[in-house]
Amino acid sequence: MTATKLVIGNWKMNGSTAQVRAFGELVRRGWPACEAALCVPHPLLSAAQTVFGATPLRWGAQDCSADDDGAFTGDVSAGMLREFGARYVILGHSERRAVHGETDGQIAAKVQRAVAAGLTPVVCIGETAEERDGEQTAAVLRRQLLQLVRTLGSDMASIVVAYEPVWAIGSGDTAAPGIIDHTHGFIAATLAFHVGLSAGTVRILYGGSVNSRNAGAILSCKTVAGVLVGGAALNPAEFTEICKAAARCSAEETSEAA
Ligand code: PGA
Repeated sequence: MTATKLVIGNWKMNGSTAQVRAFGELVRRGWPACEAALCVPHPLLSAAQTVFGATPLRWGAQDCSADDDGAFTGDVSAGMLREFGARYVILGHSERRAVHGETDGQIAAKVQRAVAAGLTPVVCIGETAEERDGEQTAAVLRRQLLQLVRTLGSDMASIVVAYEPVWAIGSGDTAAPGIIDHTHGFIAATLAFHVGLSAGTVRILYGGSVNSRNAGAILSCKTVAGVLVGGAALNPAEFTEICKAAARCSAEETSEAA
């Protein structure tokens, strides 16, 4: 398991250039030793590139097309995101699955295109409350992962997986660290079995109601390589505290491994 924890902020359809500048101010005043990125709406990528370019904070987007170019009105290609310096792209978020009807197959095609363009896709998987209550969590995660494995093959090593239980997103109802640990273990075992990837090759993040109060407990799980943060990533002070927790947990794991 890589020791540097990764914090990805998902601004969803929120934010403004003024907010990008406010984060830039904060980062310039000092930033904890963790890897962090804000995934902003497409129109804010240019501001993110200008403001974050000379800081340790990285940036990314929240969707991209499965095609390179052509007659796809309203879509944005992975290559276009690269042109604005994006490093990450969130793909397969449950809101895109639910609101835009994205299927496992369509998501896998987007992930493949993002990897080909040199982006790091942060691919969201997770069960709904009904699926959890019906004890379908393992089956749902396996189905979502295996479609990715079939499409990407050895390129799976280039992605980040985010386990986001749908019931935990925006609800204030975070999965307990024990559940997260168990589920991340299952995801790692599935990847080991089907792709032969050893634990830690693919970073597995947790997402769903992460905030400055629960981040430390979640990030101290060895199976948690980082967090995907929605609401709390819009608040500079909250996001900074989460990044500090990530830096602390990274340092602890590094010293334990030494
Ligand atoms: P949340 O959102 O942190 O507001 O629950 C997480 C996400 O949707 O990625």
